[in-house]
Amino acid sequence: MDLNQVRAYINSNQDRFLEELVELLKIPSVSADSAYKNDVQICAEHVKESLLSAGVDVAEVCQTDGHPIVYAEKIVDPSKPTILVYGHYDVQPADPVELWNSPPFEPVIKDGKIYARGSADDKGQFYMHVKAFELLQEMGELPCNVKFMIEGEEEVGSVNLGIFVKENKERLKADVILISDTSIIDNDTPSITVGLRGLSYVEVEVTGPSKDLHSGVYGGAIDNPINVLCEMIASLKDDNDHITVEGFYDRVEEVSAEDRAEMAKAPFNKEEYMAAVGVRATRSEKGYSPREGASIRPTLDVNGIWGGYIGEGAKTVLPSKANAKISMRLVPDQDPIEITELFRKHFEKIAPDTVSVKVEAHHGGDPIVIPTDFPGYVAASLAMEDTFGKKPIPERGGGSIPIVALFEEELGLKSILMGFGLDSDDIHSPNEHYGVFNYLKGIETIPFFHLHFAKLGLAKKI
Ligand code: BES
Ligand code: MN
Ligand code: MN
Repeated sequence: MDLNQVRAYINSNQDRFLEELVELLKIPSVSADSAYKNDVQICAEHVKESLLSAGVDVAEVCQTDGHPIVYAEKIVDPSKPTILVYGHYDVQPADPVELWNSPPFEPVIKDGKIYARGSADDKGQFYMHVKAFELLQEMGELPCNVKFMIEGEEEVGSVNLGIFVKENKERLKADVILISDTSIIDNDTPSITVGLRGLSYVEVEVTGPSKDLHSGVYGGAIDNPINVLCEMIASLKDDNDHITVEGFYDRVEEVSAEDRAEMAKAPFNKEEYMAAVGVRATRSEKGYSPREGASIRPTLDVNGIWGGYIGEGAKTVLPSKANAKISMRLVPDQDPIEITELFRKHFEKIAPDTVSVKVEAHHGGDPIVIPTDFPGYVAASLAMEDTFGKKPIPERGGGSIPIVALFEEELGLKSILMGFGLDSDDIHSPNEHYGVFNYLKGIETIPFFHLHFAKLGLAKKI
């Protein structure tokens, strides 16, 4: 099977590939909002059916305490290597819906892009694997065993997938995990994600008076929890944008000057980067570039903040409570549980006596780095070189896929993050989109991953 044959198959089927993706994108499988529970279930069934039509031997919708996991497999020969494809069919909430140019679950293809919630993250990306598998099957070229595990709770922390993995180790036996849920540098510059940040996520509550008060009668005597929360948050970083939580950097692995110099070689157009998100300047920890700040350094960000009166007009009130949700992106070797505890201690310590504070922990995840010398990386690099005509650049990403660390721990398997999105796809934002080029390029590249891995994996087994 050569590139021309693969391209010919894709050319004659691309309209159907797009139509099928559009159908999948119409299902509002929002995992965070219980109002969509039934749609999530419907989506799982839809994914199962699509896998069966693509030619797997068995496919199953596995129920969990939360949303279901779709599992499928095609075993061609137990002595051959096995690729386990992981992806997620759940999507982020579409809010704020009024900022979308077309409804989030009524996909539109415009200017070479598919607009819909989940188009890039991750329906468009995991579906490339379903179509690449179909292609290999139809062409009679499937060189190894393939298993699919497509979950419905990635966007809410993958808690039930963790349980599923622990309970199904035998069934999930494989040689590598293949994931498309990340980005490439640009459409002319392929890259492979060799690191993901971890996550610690907390919700804080600052309480002042036991009830809302008149801000004239009490203002000036009783402290205001919103003012206090703002002061506390402002103090969490110093003038160098260094996080002030004691012990926060203790386990941070400093990336060597050589590795940083290597990373700096990847193309990066700062003007375009800023224009894409509508800012005039970037801001990073002192001594680090924007790209370093968004990959090899940890962060602390307020994701939401609320309290007091936000209705129409002016109500004079000294509120009783103020709240915020704060995320910390972590890098090797920071530990999310330890970081959450350090944050809690620090936040309690800096609270003035005029208020009391509560810190509640949400889901988290471990950071990971992926080596560039194992068969999975080599196969992905060769496959991208085949179809892009250029060797991909290894690059550390800023986002998190917490289950990847668990795959390594529980299954002893490394993951290869061969994503085809772009950072500018607006994932989690209004008007999320995925390039038609990227979708088809993924379908074109994945079969070559299978071919290369089948050879490399076998060599390793003998
Ligand atoms: N696909 C993203 C993660 C991602 C995006 C990694 C781009 C690298 C580049 C994933 O769906 C995601 O959004 N993860 C969450 C994890 C959280 C919900 C536990 C994240 O990073 O916020
Ligand atoms: Mn994703
Ligand atoms: Mn996501």
